[in-house]
This record gives sequence, structure tokens and C-alpha cells, in this order.
Amino acid sequence: MASTENTELSEQEIAFQARIDRGEKIEPKDWMPDAYRRSLIRQIGQHAHSEIVGQLPEGNWITRAPTLERKANLLAKVQDEAGHGLYLYCAAETLGITRDEMFEMLHNGKMKYSSIFNYPTLTWADMGAVGWLVDGAAIMNQVPLQRTSYGPYARAMVRICKEESFHQRQGFHIMMTMSNGSGEQKRMAQDALNRFWYPALMMFGPSDKDSVHSAQSMAWKIKMNSNDELRQKFVDETVPQAEYLGLTIPDDQLSLDSDTGHYRFSEPDWEEFHQVINGNGPCNEERLNARIKAWDDGAWVREGMMAHANKRSAKKQVAVG
Ligand code: 3HC
Repeated sequence: MASTENTELSEQEIAFQARIDRGEKIEPKDWMPDAYRRSLIRQIGQHAHSEIVGQLPEGNWITRAPTLERKANLLAKVQDEAGHGLYLYCAAETLGITRDEMFEMLHNGKMKYSSIFNYPTLTWADMGAVGWLVDGAAIMNQVPLQRTSYGPYARAMVRICKEESFHQRQGFHIMMTMSNGSGEQKRMAQDALNRFWYPALMMFGPSDKDSVHSAQSMAWKIKMNSNDELRQKFVDETVPQAEYLGLTIPDDQLSLDSDTGHYRFSEPDWEEFHQVINGNGPCNEERLNARIKAWDDGAWVREGMMAHANKRSAKKQVAVG
């Protein structure tokens, strides 16, 4: 969709779209349409929130990891997610919103985070399923975002993707160990797959016909692929992995279409998706309360840091004066 076809665009907007079409990066001090700025803040902010809310379901299992090695891996993964949140909050801040404003919007429900983190992690096998499927879905979406048009976002994605691929592998390794373990362990792995399959498919967002932002975001290269394209790619790559594990994808309709080479699969329950993104999923309240508590409990740290920073800058001013 070339927005240059729209005769109502100003010359500045036409020149901006031409830069995007040529594959140039837009940097923080460059002129950009307000709607481009707002859409990036929405998407990067939601992405940042997803990273830090995503720490909660896995943080829940750090103390109960079955071995020291598994514990060290999970701890590192959960810390990585905090780092991803930081890169993304920094990228969003370059667009003129403050971190405090973004947190306020997370806490009052005006900004979303990924639906997936509103599901509970009930057993250790869920650590495998989350790494394998959730980080696997995240990579599918985020690798193309390394080429997104906004420079700070694209650059943040490079490191995030490297780390997410380690996360995906550690999850798959847990699934492999459990699938090859005792009958009970294999049942736990299957149960985790059963519970996380459709929520993982929902991570890609509503089907293309119901996606509100895709057309404009793709024209601006804020998004590189449509929701359905990435969902299909994820299914195509994940089904053979499940077969390798000896596990069954919980979908009676799943079949390989020999004409297209793609798997046919059942759509997730979109009513459930809308309930979850509107605050009514199984863990929405718990997740949000945990974030609000962390924010409130950390107030003294922020105040201390700000007092220190203010004192340093006052000293500098005296020295300069
Ligand atoms: N969870 C929550 N909200 C979702 C969603 C999901 N899985 N999918 C879509 N939505 C929301 C959208 O934000 C939008 O709501 P809004 O207008 O209030 O913002 C609405 O549903 C309509 O959806 P659209 O398809 O029109 O929205 P987008 O064009 O923004 O597409 C997206 C949604 C594909 C998630 C896109 O925003 C995107 O690619 N975001 C960047 C990646 C991201 O945020 N990933 C989070 C994954 S979790 C993660 O990375 C953590 C890691 O540790 C695993």
C-alpha cells in the first residue's frame, strides 16, 4: 500500500513516506507524522510492558527449578526480559514519552501487554512450553522487526532477538528432556503444550481482517508482516518440532496442505482473546497487581536515585558557574 497515492497527504508526509519506501531509517530528531509517533509509542510501549510482565509467570518457578543448571538458565532468562524491557522503554522515550507516563498507562489499563502472560504457569513443564512456544512466537514476530523503519526500535530488536533465541532453545531443551523422561513427565509436557498452543497463536494478534493497525503500520514499516502471515509461519515451523518431541498439537483439524506446503489449522477462540486483552483473562488482575506493587515498593529507590542525580547536577552547575 503506497500512501503516496493519497492526495490528501502534505508534501512533508509524502517525503516521509518516500524515505520509508527507500528503506531509510527514521531517527528521533527527524520529522515524523504525529500518527507515526503515536503508533510507535503504542507498539513499543506495549512490547516493553510485555517483556516485564512476562517475567512474572516464569519468575514464579525460579525457586522450584529441578536442578541448579535449570535454575541458573531460568534466572538468566528472566533477567534478560528485564533488559529487553529497558531497551524498549529507552527506544519509546526517544519519541517524547516518559517512562513514568508509560508505567502509569500500564497500571491504569490504558496500555496493553501481550495476552499470553495472562495465563498461569501450573507445572515445571510450563517453563519448557513458554520458552519453546512463547519465545518462539516472539522471535517469529521480532526478527523482521530488526528491519523496522524506526532506528532505535530496530537496533533494540537486534540484541533482543539474539537473547530470545537462547530462550527458545532452553525451553525446547526442557520439553525434550521431559518428553523423553518418565510417562508422567511426558504427560506433563503434553499438558503444557495443550494449554499454551492456542494462547501462543493469539500472540500474533487478531486475524488480518480484524486487525485495526496492520495496513498503516505495514505501510510505515512499523510492522513488517501481517498477523496471519506470521501465525502461519509459526505453525509451519512448530508442528515438525512437536513431532520430533513425540507430542501432539491439540488441533483435530491440523493437516499439511500438499498444494501450498503450509499446515491448515484451527483458529484460536477469538472471543477468549478479546476477553483476555480487555482485562478478563485468568491472571490479568494478578499480573497487574504484581506490577503495581513492584512500582510502589520501588518508590524509595527511585526517589533516592533522583535525589542523588539532582544533587550531582546542582554541584555541576555551581562548578560551571
Ligand atoms: N496481546 C495483547 N494485545 C494485542 C495482541 C496480543 N497478543 N494482539 C493484538 N493486540 C491488540 C493491539 O495492541 C490493538 O490494540 P490497541 O489499539 O489498543 O493497541 C488491538 O489488539 C488490535 O490489533 P492489531 O492487529 O490492529 O494491532 P497491531 O497492529 O499492533 O499488532 C502485534 C499486534 C502483532 C502484537 C504488534 O503490536 C507487534 O508486532 N508488536 C511488537 C511485538 C510485541 O509486542 N510482542 C510482545 C510479545 S511478548 C514478548 O516479546 C516477551 C518475550 O519475553 C517473550
